Amino acid sequence: MYTTEFHGAVVLVTGAAGGIGQAIGRAFEARGATVYRTDIRPGTEPRFITGDIADPQFPHRCVEQIVHEASRIDVLVNNAGICPRTALPDITAEEWKRVLDINLTSAFLLSQACMATMVARKSGAIISLASLAGKVGGIAVGAHYSASKAAVICLTKTLARYGAPHGVRANAVAPGVIQTEMTAAATPEAREALAKSIPLGRFGTPEEVAETIVFLASKAAGYITGVTLDINGGLLMD
Ligand SMILES: NC(=O)c1ccc[n+]([C@@H]2O[C@H](COP(=O)([O-])OP(=O)(O)OC[C@H]3O[C@@H](n4cnc5c(N)ncnc54)[C@H](O)[C@@H]3O)[C@@H](O)[C@H]2O)c1
Repeated sequence: MYTTEFHGAVVLVTGAAGGIGQAIGRAFEARGATVYRTDIRPGTEPRFITGDIADPQFPHRCVEQIVHEASRIDVLVNNAGICPRTALPDITAEEWKRVLDINLTSAFLLSQACMATMVARKSGAIISLASLAGKVGGIAVGAHYSASKAAVICLTKTLARYGAPHGVRANAVAPGVIQTEMTAAATPEAREALAKSIPLGRFGTPEEVAETIVFLASKAAGYITGVTLDINGGLLMD
């Protein structure tokens, strides 16, 4: 029987102070993992590393600290992200770069740093947060956001190909509309209309995203790599 237990495993979660990030941290801890969290907002949990993930030095510093303290990283969850809803004509070059730095470049740099330690141990799992918008383009969200998430899907495939001969798997999840601060801005009317357009008739919960990520990181998903799993209540079936 394959398990989703993580006793003795070391997990790093970015964006850990956010709605989905908090649920991911709790889900791994509930399975016995030692969880390191990072976010630009300070957190109160143990092993919380505060910092701006868009600082190109930060990902390597963060991984160095964890490997020094815990001697390994078994699971990386690239979850940090921002989602400006700026209309296409109003997106400046600076805003475009900031979104790509946080949503994409940080995921690349952290994955690169973790990959080295995972390859050395011949084991590891990387899970990145893509988005429905990364498949269908930005409708309610910005062009920079959807482009960054599309790139995360492709980065995942490259990580999967690179890691496979070394026992390292890489997968992504593409949430649709999940109840967090990121989606709270819409009016009640807009939220109701949106919920009605979803086959399952509701938004998803952070816990539903976290449980899928735990599965993808676990031995139960040992033959799954390079995929992007939809978590969208049926909003997109491709
Ligand atoms: N909520 C949704 O409906 C939805 C849908 C699809 C994908 N996602 C993705 O899921 C992930 C988590 O989203 P969420 O809904 O929990 O959002 P959230 O805003 O609640 O959490 C995002 C976290 O990222 C952190 N963060 C932002 N900029 C950072 C930086 N420069 N350095 C370090 N940390 C930074 C924030 O402080 C925050 O805690 C994101 O990548 C998001 O794009 C969310």
